[in-house]
Amino acid sequence: MNPCHGPIELYWFSGTGNTLLVVQRITDLLQAAGRTVHLRAIEMADPAEVRIAADGMLGLAFPVAMGSTYPFIWRFLEKLPPGNGAPAFAVATLAGFAAGMLARPLRQLLEAKGYRPLAIRQIRMPSNYLASKPLAACGKRLGKGDAAAAAFADQLLHDKGGWPGWGCVSWNLLRRLMPHGERLLNRAGRKFQANSELCTRCGLCVRLCPVQNITPPALAATRLPEFGPRCQQCQRCIAACPARAIRSSAPGAHGRYRALPPAALLRAIELDPAGFQTTAEAAPPPPPFVPISQSLNLSTLVRPPPSSRGPAG
Ligand SMILES: Cc1cc2nc3c(=O)[nH]c(=O)nc-3n(C[C@H](O)[C@H](O)[C@H](O)COP(=O)(O)O)c2cc1C
Ligand code: SF4
Ligand code: SF4
Repeated sequence: MNPCHGPIELYWFSGTGNTLLVVQRITDLLQAAGRTVHLRAIEMADPAEVRIAADGMLGLAFPVAMGSTYPFIWRFLEKLPPGNGAPAFAVATLAGFAAGMLARPLRQLLEAKGYRPLAIRQIRMPSNYLASKPLAACGKRLGKGDAAAAAFADQLLHDKGGWPGWGCVSWNLLRRLMPHGERLLNRAGRKFQANSELCTRCGLCVRLCPVQNITPPALAATRLPEFGPRCQQCQRCIAACPARAIRSSAPGAHGRYRALPPAALLRAIELDPAGFQTTAEAAPPPPPFVPISQSLNLSTLVRPPPSSRGPAG
């Protein structure tokens, strides 16, 4: 099925670390089998500059959101240059199901651009949004996700897989629906706030937001990060904040889950962790979990003793 043995250009995005764990597992196994994999962070990449070698392959990895994926990821995909027959695979992490709005439209979009969709896999990982649990309670799900990632890497190496065209929504329909979904995400993002006592003004959230929704770009000691109208609810700022200072009162946005500590995410997207205050030691201890009903009332945040820190802190 797949005569490609050249470099794999793997474009990925991860809000809270699940997709990054899967990407790292797949990459390790492909590299152990002698394949070259170039990891490229989607939010740092110019889609027009994507180049796939004649014997290479395009890889895509991202989370499912609202039954599909984030609009900024679709925009990246829409701007990909012509594929000229290059093979492509995709892996999407999700908490439950993708409502048929991913495999089919993505396949159609890639085919329209001249790529050859070979294999897609949806991998269940812990929820980072609705009904999310602390990392410590997610071991079983993470283990299954890791096994699924390894199985997918094996399929890629043995030219197996497949890209079913099932799904209820075509790429054309999804493109028309997207602005409505995006408005909902934007609106939910307006409910983000940084707690002035906890925030150290380190600037990490500003730097990591994939859609430059957090300002000002350089935080003065007196300024708190402000959240604009472009949020896509990827949860990255909430998860990566070393001080656990960002709160959201958006429905379902518990904002406590992260699969990896902030420094690991920074390193993966090739930003120097030394430029930011990312360790738990350097930051104030995280506040306890606050139910959504209370999360607007920031005065209810009480710092717990250091022993009650979460495992990813
Ligand atoms: C705004 C938002 C919407 C989501 N929508 C879905 C969904 O429709 N279906 C699903 O199974 N999981 C959904 N999830 C859960 C994530 O897809 C899942 O936890 C994923 O592994 C997160 O990956 P990441 O850690 O790489 O960001 C959603 C998460 C967020 C933040
Ligand atoms: S990452 Fe957290 S501590 Fe750093 S500026 Fe943003 S809200 Fe403040
Ligand atoms: S503001 Fe936070 S949740 Fe919204 S897009 Fe930026 S990083 Fe993601």
